[in-house]
Amino acid sequence: MQAFMLISVSMVLALVSGSSDLSSDVKWLTYLNADNMNQGKIGQSLSSKLTSADECAKACISMLGSDPTSGCTSYTFYHVDFHVKKLQGKCFGDTTGFWSPEYSSLEDPGIYGGVTSGQNNPSSYVTNCSSVDDCSANGICSAETKTCECFPQWMGKYCGQLNFVPTSKTAGLQSTDENGRVSSWGGSVLRGDDGKYHMFAAEMTHNTGIVVWMSNSRIRHAVSEDGENFVSSDVTSPVWGHEPTAARAPTGEYVVFFTANFEEIPCSGAECKNSDNGNTVVDEEHCLPDTQCSTYPDLLTYIIYANDPTGPWSEPVLIPTGDFGSIDTNLAPMIMDDGSLIGLGRPPYIWRATNWNDTSTYEVEAVDNTVMGEDPFLYVDPNNNDSSILHGLSHAGGWDSRGGHAWSLDGGKTWKSHEDIASYGSLIEYTDGTAGILTRRERPHLIFDKKGNLQALTNGATLDPCTHPEYCDKDYCFTALQKLNQE
Ligand SMILES: *[C@@H]1O[C@H](CO)[C@@H](O)[C@H](O)[C@H]1NC(C)=O
Ligand SMILES: *[C@@H]1O[C@H](CO)[C@@H](O)[C@H](O)[C@H]1NC(C)=O
Ligand SMILES: *[C@@H]1O[C@H](CO)[C@@H](O)[C@H](O)[C@H]1NC(C)=O
Repeated sequence: MQAFMLISVSMVLALVSGSSDLSSDVKWLTYLNADNMNQGKIGQSLSSKLTSADECAKACISMLGSDPTSGCTSYTFYHVDFHVKKLQGKCFGDTTGFWSPEYSSLEDPGIYGGVTSGQNNPSSYVTNCSSVDDCSANGICSAETKTCECFPQWMGKYCGQLNFVPTSKTAGLQSTDENGRVSSWGGSVLRGDDGKYHMFAAEMTHNTGIVVWMSNSRIRHAVSEDGENFVSSDVTSPVWGHEPTAARAPTGEYVVFFTANFEEIPCSGAECKNSDNGNTVVDEEHCLPDTQCSTYPDLLTYIIYANDPTGPWSEPVLIPTGDFGSIDTNLAPMIMDDGSLIGLGRPPYIWRATNWNDTSTYEVEAVDNTVMGEDPFLYVDPNNNDSSILHGLSHAGGWDSRGGHAWSLDGGKTWKSHEDIASYGSLIEYTDGTAGILTRRERPHLIFDKKGNLQALTNGATLDPCTHPEYCDKDYCFTALQKLNQE
């Protein structure tokens, strides 16, 4: 894990240049190891011989201005030890509101990191609009001002960025047992009739980590009173099962959709048993990482349901996959008030059913421009006052720790997105004033409060570098939770 600080740069401008009218404090949202300028292909080159990100932030404000919409909207600084020699010590600034910071290249794990990006107060960015699409359906386009007014949980250009607030370091699902840490990889959360929050998470058995998910994953039920700190409860479905997304049926059932194989354990053909406090100890005879599997059985999608989140669960029923095939669908469904279902799978596939509990009514079609990447999450934002406005979050794909967002104004027939804004990045800010950089951040799921408002985001996450299969000796993973702004 890399050290991290959210910095507030007090502008003593005479030190930097002669510009005036820059007396305000600029609150930077700062990401270490993140490159918002695509190795200098975006933005303006401001200086080629600085020694710190702090200096770059100051240079950006003094040269481009402090206005959060038209001045320096972001900067990127390549540290003096950055692995691309010609970028060492270089500082770039941007005035367009572009915000989609990427990891620095990890070709050589020894030089992991070495680039810092900062964003100028994204919640003050003003987006001109002529329709709700200009505000990503995450806000309204004010008829009066012709600018976007973002819902409280969103901010930035096009209201395209989730507006997080500092969150407890222990939030999410971070289990331990008598053998140490227990890895989990994202959880889908429902509110129960008991007023508690019920998470269905992918969990790795025998205290292993994410590189053996293909051999060790099962479905874990965890419970929280406040929707923030989850405590492990019972096992919903044993090895092998992965990628659960849960929904409530209008008749009250808890319905879990997940990838499973009940006959065969994928990859190593058996669970890996050697681990060290949540990290896998790979043993090439018995326990293979996900990049070297010896067996690749079908990874099909099943549905189970129960009247209580602890079960007993119905017999698993196979969900049709149409043209999609037999790898994991990532299916993320919603069940509507009339019992019909719509689900986003790996792009470009959408599932629809007239009855969630009758697989003969399921249909799969390919639709253009759904979410980017993988791991979709489908939801309705109550702020829209309209259940035909659908939103999709996703993991941008690969080793990228950014999130995507897409929306549909017509019940999922057509989709739109703004690709120059990431819905979330790698940053997680804690209530104790520190922060972490999630080296992997996948499986996004939103938690909704009593009124249905977006309350928090969960992800399958790692803090140690685990982005290249060859460089993941510490593969402990957990289900991160980051709270969203509410007012
Ligand atoms: C937004 O509209 C205002 C008023 O028409 C204009 O002055 C401003 O330049 C526009 N801003 C952007 C970023 O296009
Ligand atoms: C689901 O379908 C099965 C088979 O038709 C039926 O036995 C069961 O009662 C249904 N359950 C619900 C909750 O609709
Ligand atoms: C939803 O309804 C509320 C209450 O009538 C209203 O204040 C709000 O602007 C509406 N939101 C949208 C997106 O139309």
